Amino acid sequence: MYVCSCFGITEKQVKEHADAGACTPRQIASASKAGTDCGSCVRKIQSLLGRGGCPRRELLDQGLPALTAGAGSPDEAPLLEEAA
Ligand code: FES
Repeated sequence: MYVCSCFGITEKQVKEHADAGACTPRQIASASKAGTDCGSCVRKIQSLLGRGGCPRRELLDQGLPALTAGAGSPDEAPLLEEAA
């Protein structure tokens, strides 16, 4: 199943990048370009990454805004704003 239709990136590919160490949508974007065109897949990528054991996932599970809770990396914010 495609996660990013702009670049034809599948859920499996995102997971492979995550396994290889990509922990944020921005790192996935650097590795695969997913999320760098229309941006509509960024949140989907983020939720896929959330299952991979990144510390930030705990905040998301609690329903807290991870990016404003002080645990997120600031360089990720612009990418998410584009998607909103
Ligand atoms: S669907 Fe991923 S950038 Fe458009």
